Amino acid sequence: MNSLAGARVLVGVGGGIAAYKTAHLVRGLVGEGADVQVIPTASSLQFVGAATWEALSHHEVLTSVFERVEEVAHVRVGQQADLVVIAPATADLLARLRMGRGDDLLTASLLVTRAPVVVAPAMHTEMWEHPATVENVAVLRERGLVVLEPAVGRLTGPDSGPGRLPEPAAILDAARAAIAAPRTALGAVHRDLEGRRLLISAGGTREELDPVRFLANHSSGRQGWALAHAALVRGARVTLAAANVQLEDPPGVDRRDVVTAAELASLIAEQREHVDAVVMAAAVADFTAAERSADKIKKSEDPAGQDAPAIALRRTEDILRSAVTWRGEETRPSIVGFAAETGGAGHSALELAAQKARRKGADLLVFNDVTTGVFGSADNSVMILDSEGRQVARSEGSKTQVAHAVLDELVRRLPAVP
Ligand code: CTP
Repeated sequence: MNSLAGARVLVGVGGGIAAYKTAHLVRGLVGEGADVQVIPTASSLQFVGAATWEALSHHEVLTSVFERVEEVAHVRVGQQADLVVIAPATADLLARLRMGRGDDLLTASLLVTRAPVVVAPAMHTEMWEHPATVENVAVLRERGLVVLEPAVGRLTGPDSGPGRLPEPAAILDAARAAIAAPRTALGAVHRDLEGRRLLISAGGTREELDPVRFLANHSSGRQGWALAHAALVRGARVTLAAANVQLEDPPGVDRRDVVTAAELASLIAEQREHVDAVVMAAAVADFTAAERSADKIKKSEDPAGQDAPAIALRRTEDILRSAVTWRGEETRPSIVGFAAETGGAGHSALELAAQKARRKGADLLVFNDVTTGVFGSADNSVMILDSEGRQVARSEGSKTQVAHAVLDELVRRLPAVP
């Protein structure tokens, strides 16, 4: 299931050069089955014309409150939206939103809507860092708008710094996270992780056998990524320990790349004392080469040879277990593990997961039955167990929906902020 399929999405386009990238975003949203209404500001039409938006969204484009007056478009579009995405948001548009102005169709619609709003800013670094913009962003976030951090890199001129529009794929992930998030009475995303720091591991580790071969697993990192996006829209600061993941960075995340289980273990050990929760979504190798061969391992010269080398392996550190042991009697950080099980040796997958929950001692263990295959897919189906192996929740659907279900349980268990 996909949370954007069938959703009515209002895409607001501000007057910045990055508007051309929003064409890819609209395409992505339509590709997911969303019903997209684009509302460009008048100045944004200097960059990308209405014909582009009409062709991509299959809807007539409206800009002014004086179009379609008989339909009261400025009220209808905002009321009907399930989600609003503004990309790019210029400094001027952020200021108008902060003031609650309604001087064009986009801002008027924003006053009407009770849907979650994702804002993707793009501007020069000086404008982003100007105290006026900093204050506007803080107020908008307090109001529950999901204002993404701009990406860092080359800007329109020869300069570079924070201010680039996040990649359309990352905005799309944030949109998925926002539409599935818990909401306040006014429809905004509930920032129940405000002030919290999360350390999330994602992907799958690789253990080298020789200079050309490694032991790996099927994990794509999508579940960890969905957790990061979901935590970010709910207001958390996120460090993402990424083991061999080929996905766009979630905007504003502190991404740390690792390759092996040992590298992941040292990163988690170094970071765990600084966070409120450690969420181990990565698939970590249980075994690594006892000794990595410096040269490529060769087969014998005998063409009929049946030989195959016996490769000695040794256990890796159980990172989750180490974190639980290190925490001891303390309550911080909360620790969440994942268990992919297939069942076997006379036990069902669920029985094995419950045993694992008791053995590992994490506060929550997210169990999925991988007999049906979830790796690389957008969907997942999980059971959430507590440290006694009891089922506390289940979630079926997109990895984003599963991510929010895990965070709901985590939020319930986080000790109060001192
Ligand atoms: N994990 C870990 N360190 C390892 C292996 C796993 O921290 N060396 C974490 C994973 O990130 C996951 C949880 O432990 O959150 C369960 O992973 P899984 O591979 O299912 O557990 P194992 O203890 O390795 O059990 P099994 O014998 O079933 O492989």
